Amino acid sequence: MGVAMDKPMRPDSDNAAEFGWKHDDVFGRIASRYDLLCDVFSLFIHRVWKRRVAKRIADESWTTLLDGATGTGDIVLRILARSEINARKIIASDVSESMLAIAQRRLIMHGAQVEFRQLDAESMPSIPDASIDAYSMSLGMKICNRRLALNEAYRVLKPGGRIIVLEASNIRWPLLHRAYLAYMSICMPVLGWLATGGDSSAYKYLLHGIRGFPTAEALATEIKAHGFEQVTFERMSLGIVAIHEARKPNPR
Ligand SMILES: C[S@@+](CC[C@H](N)C(=O)[O-])C[C@H]1O[C@@H](n2cnc3c(N)ncnc32)[C@H](O)[C@@H]1O
Repeated sequence: MGVAMDKPMRPDSDNAAEFGWKHDDVFGRIASRYDLLCDVFSLFIHRVWKRRVAKRIADESWTTLLDGATGTGDIVLRILARSEINARKIIASDVSESMLAIAQRRLIMHGAQVEFRQLDAESMPSIPDASIDAYSMSLGMKICNRRLALNEAYRVLKPGGRIIVLEASNIRWPLLHRAYLAYMSICMPVLGWLATGGDSSAYKYLLHGIRGFPTAEALATEIKAHGFEQVTFERMSLGIVAIHEARKPNPR
């Protein structure tokens, strides 16, 4: 997989977790354990979230979908498990070659329907303007520069194209939200450290990202400010995560 990525140093804002993947492929280092650890941290609930977002994506009418920060291909796998997908094409993309290699292995039976691309969601010069019908990202927005990633999603989408984002959110009851963050602050680095034999860096980024991530209402406002319309969100699991959806306006 070739890399064609040149972009200026990241602006210092809009990036909850300050993830410097160019210098340190933290997700590459935990790639082989990533799926297991998702089950452990979320007590398997991430499967429910992913099933739901995959259904939402599959229910949309698109010919080409770009899944950004695809990781080990969990979302793409679930989308392709649905019969209505048939002849549609998916671009599964991520910055981490190791994560993509696992996605490729898991999706091998889907052959030409999936194209694997090493892409930085913040700058994808190899994807032409207005060339994609639907764009999705699951649990990656908190470690990207949101402003750049949303700009790119808007640019590559065709007019009328759909964006669907699953991401950490906020429990509406502040005390409960604080208790959840306290649980994650202890559980994530410790379990991450144990499971990786002493490297909990990815989980520190993720934790930082969860902490710094805007509320569902604030993210909806940001998405609108990027030019999207029909912006909606649905909280899941009391608001631990939310699915955000919007459409690029179609002037016709
Ligand atoms: C928490 S994982 C989510 C993976 C998958 N979407 C899921 O739901 O399980 C985050 C992924 O984002 C990728 N990533 C981080 N920064 C990125 C960027 N700027 N562009 C594309 N992918 C990125 C990481 O390599 C990692 O695979």
